[in-house]
Amino acid sequence: MRTFQQENSRLRWITLSSSEVSVDEGEDVIRGLKQMPKTLPCRYFYDDRGSELFEQICDLPEYYPTRTEQAILETYALEIAHLTGACELVELGSGSSRKTRLLLEAYSQLNPHLQYCPIDVSAGILKTTALDLLRQYPKLSLCGLAGTYEQALAQLPRFGLARRLLIFLGSTLGNLDEQACDNFLTHIQQALQPGEFFLLGVDLHKPAEILEAAYNDAQGVTAAFNLNMLNHLNHRFQSNFDLDQFAHAAIYNQIEHQIEMHVRSLKNQTIELQSLDCTVALQAQETIRTEISRKFHLPTLISVLENHALQPLQVWTDPQSWFALMLCQRQCMDSECP
Ligand code: AVI
Repeated sequence: MRTFQQENSRLRWITLSSSEVSVDEGEDVIRGLKQMPKTLPCRYFYDDRGSELFEQICDLPEYYPTRTEQAILETYALEIAHLTGACELVELGSGSSRKTRLLLEAYSQLNPHLQYCPIDVSAGILKTTALDLLRQYPKLSLCGLAGTYEQALAQLPRFGLARRLLIFLGSTLGNLDEQACDNFLTHIQQALQPGEFFLLGVDLHKPAEILEAAYNDAQGVTAAFNLNMLNHLNHRFQSNFDLDQFAHAAIYNQIEHQIEMHVRSLKNQTIELQSLDCTVALQAQETIRTEISRKFHLPTLISVLENHALQPLQVWTDPQSWFALMLCQRQCMDSECP
């Protein structure tokens, strides 16, 4: 089910309800906690507080991805707009849309009557950002979509006849394992018509010290973000995680090329998730993995994208090659072409 709300001629909201979530509410939590080693899905980071903490992470001196990607966008946003021509912009995991503003600036030079559809699981940050953008861009029309990527990609409205540019920044692709990444790219492929565009930002391989510093910042914001997931679960599933009895840990797995973030239990303890009817025993020092953040090898990623009919047209990186921004075009599959 979806709830549709027209707030004014420039602003629409679509809220996708949980009946369209691909997993039953909390099923993924139970599954992760029952497996060994234990895991929790990283989507539970993002309640309103988690989204705020993530915004703070983006400004940390150790967390290079945001400012590196931003610098690439500052240099190339106009070139991207010229390469694609006028488009409707659809952003997955938009958060505060801070980097997207550079694209909005560039695209509004091609067509001031711009259409933008930000998609985020956090309705709070979506609303604040939407109102702010409408004030800043008087000719912008916006359709905010609150829901998960899977829900949103399956039900994206079309604004008009303009070609679509799907935007997925911040290396959020790295938070999906190989299988989930493959499914996600299949959804992207299906949400685009041949000739339309996909703009993807990804974090690349680099020395472990830089990566581990980025996920173990000196101010402890990443630790607060990680532990806030337990707080979110407490509210959502009536559970009894005591945040003082857990510690943050983030290590770089050099074989898998991924940061692995965990919460470590500081004692033997039993956790009850009342509304899920689930009880979990934790040993002292046992960890629950809350996130993977994969770091990509560009040639490998290019062939993965090509396998999903997404042809990279142009790849931009920073001078250190820490981060890449890729503009891909959806190709015509044999079955789709005349
Ligand atoms: C959203 N995502 C790309 C971030 C990352 O770097 O994997 C989430 C994050 N986790 C800890 N710090 C930032």
